[in-house]
Amino acid sequence: MGRKFFVGGNWKCNGTTEEVNKIVSTLNAGEVPSQDVVEVVVSPPFVFLPLVKTSLRPDFHVAAQNCWVKKGGAFTGEVSAEMLVNLSIPWVIIGHSERRLILKESNEFVADKVAYALAQGLKVIACIGETLEQREAGSTVAVVAEQTKAIAAKISNWTDVVLAYEPVWAIGTGKVATPAQAQEVHFELRKWLQANVSPEVAASTRIIYGGSVTAANCKELAAQPDVDGFLVGGASLKPEFIDIIKSAEVKKNA
Ligand code: PGA
Repeated sequence: MGRKFFVGGNWKCNGTTEEVNKIVSTLNAGEVPSQDVVEVVVSPPFVFLPLVKTSLRPDFHVAAQNCWVKKGGAFTGEVSAEMLVNLSIPWVIIGHSERRLILKESNEFVADKVAYALAQGLKVIACIGETLEQREAGSTVAVVAEQTKAIAAKISNWTDVVLAYEPVWAIGTGKVATPAQAQEVHFELRKWLQANVSPEVAASTRIIYGGSVTAANCKELAAQPDVDGFLVGGASLKPEFIDIIKSAEVKKNA
């Protein structure tokens, strides 16, 4: 199947130049498995992207945390996909729940962004996930399927897409999904891709988990057959991010 383990660090709206330099130094000194075992991508705020890109070790890559839904122009405060391409930023995170919920980005808007970013040549970490209310109502799979369906309707090539399952109730709360809960949703998502996109896309698309991932819980999660990596928030600002990257070894030995 060849789904290379993927570890993304989402720095969110955090950091000063000094703090960013410190995080980069820690990452640059970290001993991690080679690039054929794990793909590492860190996502600083827009303003720090050039600094991180030039100072970060070459085997780690950078992602923007968002981009505009279409070609740039009169859209005050936005950053276009073309600008990211111009700066050789290879990845972008789209549809993070903080944007879906706080900035009211709809499934369709997120899907349009994914399609536009891919068309410009960016690789996309597309985020999906249910709220606590939706989980308690038993609609987790329906919600993530609907979010994925909106994206699937607008793209035809999944090669450059990583799907990040991030239950909203687990993000920044310290309440991580159990390995069984994560595996169940990842399995259902893969099944959905198989039935609605293609068996090839289902087999090759990486589905990563996000939500309170730490050095302490990553190995057990990584051992789940349909968990292909992580999107890490809080812990990606700390030295333990290196240990999370190392959890890729669990797959290598599997
Ligand atoms: P967290 O965030 O690891 O701090 O829960 C994950 C994310 O929002 O991507």
